[in-house]
Amino acid sequence: KLFRPFNVVVDFETGNLTPGKKITRYLSDIQHFFLDKEKVKAVLAKENPLVYEVIYAEVPEEPGHLAHCTTIIYPGKVGNEFFFTKGHLHEKLETAEIYFTLKGQGRLIMASPDGEECEVLEMFPGSASYIPPSWSHRSVNVGGEPLIFYCIFFADAGHDYATIDKTGFPKVVLERNGEVVVENNPNWKK
Ligand code: 6PG
Ligand code: NI
Repeated sequence: KLFRPFNVVVDFETGNLTPGKKITRYLSDIQHFFLDKEKVKAVLAKENPLVYEVIYAEVPEEPGHLAHCTTIIYPGKVGNEFFFTKGHLHEKLETAEIYFTLKGQGRLIMASPDGEECEVLEMFPGSASYIPPSWSHRSVNVGGEPLIFYCIFFADAGHDYATIDKTGFPKVVLERNGEVVVENNPNWKK
C-alpha cells in the first residue's frame, strides 16, 4: 500500500504540532527519579504539576518510516533538580535520533548501555543534537521558559523505559547558587 505524503505544522512558540497525538507526563509519573524524596512528597501533597508533553505526528510504527514529534518540558524544579523527561533506550538499540531545539535552554543527558560513558550536550534554539545508536537519552529544562524541541527517529525504534526505571542516569542536572551544574547521580545503579 502506498503511503500518502502529508504535512504537519509545528508552532515554534508553543511547540504544538498539528495534527498530532499528545502524551502528558506529570510529576507523579517520574517522581521516583528525583534525588530529594522528601521534596517530591511535599510538592505532590499540594499539586501534581505537568512536567512535559510529547506530540507525535501519526506515522506507522514500521521499518522505513520516520517518526517525528515535539516535546515541551515546562520550567520547574524539585528542590534544586530541574524538570526532565523519563528517558529511555530505543528497543532497537541500533537506531539513532535527532533533537532540534526550537525554544528554551536545556541539557541532553546521554549514556552508553552499560552507563560507563556519559555525555551531556547543551540544548538551545538552533541546536541539532545527534543521539547515536545505543545511547540512552533524557532531556532537562534548565531555563525559566518551556524547553521545546523537535525529534526525528526511526518509527519502529520502540521505547525501553524499564532499563532506566532500574538504573536511572549516571548524571543529574541541578541548580547551585544560580548556576546550572552537572553532577554524578548518587542513586545511579549500574
Ligand atoms: C523518542 C524521543 C522523544 C521522547 C520524548 C519524551 O524516542 O520518542 O526520544 O520523543 O520520547 O522527548 O521522553 P521520554 O520518552 O523519555 O518520556
Ligand atoms: Ni528516543
